[in-house]
Amino acid sequence: MRTKLYQIDKNRIDREKLREAGLLLLAGELVAFPTETVYGLGGNALDASASRKIYAAKGRPSDNPLIVHIADWDSLSKITAQIPEGAKKLADAYWPGPLTMIFPKSDLVPIETTGGLDSVAVRMPSHPVALELIRQGGGYVAAPSANTSGRPSPTEAKHVAEDLDGKIAMILDGGSVGIGLESTIVDFTEEIPTILRPGAINREMLREILGEVRLDPGLDAENEHIRPKAPGMRYKHYAPKAQLTIVEGSTEAVVQKINELTKEKTKAGKKVGIISTDETLDQYKRGIIKSIGSRREEETIAQHLYGILRDFDEEDVDCIYSESFETPKLGMAIMNRLLKAAGHQIIDV
Ligand code: TXA
Ligand code: MG
Repeated sequence: MRTKLYQIDKNRIDREKLREAGLLLLAGELVAFPTETVYGLGGNALDASASRKIYAAKGRPSDNPLIVHIADWDSLSKITAQIPEGAKKLADAYWPGPLTMIFPKSDLVPIETTGGLDSVAVRMPSHPVALELIRQGGGYVAAPSANTSGRPSPTEAKHVAEDLDGKIAMILDGGSVGIGLESTIVDFTEEIPTILRPGAINREMLREILGEVRLDPGLDAENEHIRPKAPGMRYKHYAPKAQLTIVEGSTEAVVQKINELTKEKTKAGKKVGIISTDETLDQYKRGIIKSIGSRREEETIAQHLYGILRDFDEEDVDCIYSESFETPKLGMAIMNRLLKAAGHQIIDV
């Protein structure tokens, strides 16, 4: 299949091109598009065969449910069986935005879309290209991140093309995404709303609106025997090809340890990548050193994480050492992704 690529300026959306994209979705085809979190791989959420195509294009296990993207509040009641008060308040505060909520599903949603579950995950994104595509494509767009299963999520259209060119009908290129990490997922099928995946809407922000919010016990690295509730959080994921190791401790000790390890590995003939920050960039001596951004701007660190992992794949490094990023607002989301990419390999110094 030839994949059509359209450049779309999000401030001056070309309605004709978006109409063409919407018609593809209505015909059961797949279109990748930018959202404010990461690029999504869209298909008609109410069409079981489109959902099957999504799993096939990504190489994704078919028991890992998709998020249904909507463009207006009224669409929500058609695909859900029940909307709790707390969810209405959260939607008021954070929709459109980087928030996904899980509800009991209505019969309109095929189980192919929900990976066999009787619940459905729903998000109203804020990216103008995403919203226009959803409107033109029938109102319900199932969209996982637009990467091959197991690779870092795409934050630029070129990442999507690397993984999916030739496998889908169209890619809408809206430039780099704003946030760079997938949406926060809150499960409303539990008695107490539960975070299944941390994101830019952090626990404090949820608490302010909801009062009590639980964290899925399966997310805690200490609870290795408890499976995360979101199927997608169970797999080794976001993984670069090289073994990634996180080094944690005071900045000085971390830099020293990474320099030591890099020296050893380089001597053994290995190609080493280092994820540093603007503040430490000059303190590393060997290896391929990339800065993820400044510690003073945690948004930049989130934005660059997946891209940097992909860059190291291209450079064919054998191992990667990364500093740790426990930043105030996005730290939980950043470290959740970084730890998974590292398969929880951490050195404490
Ligand atoms: O930011 C995002 O959410 C992006 C953009 C494209 O919107 N989408 C995204 O989709 O990250 P995906 O498929 O890569 O991640 C969806 C996650 C998976 O971990 C999946 O298991 C979980 O949501 N999920 C979806 N429906 C669920 C349900 N009914 N119950 C529990 N987990 C669910
Ligand atoms: Mg994903």
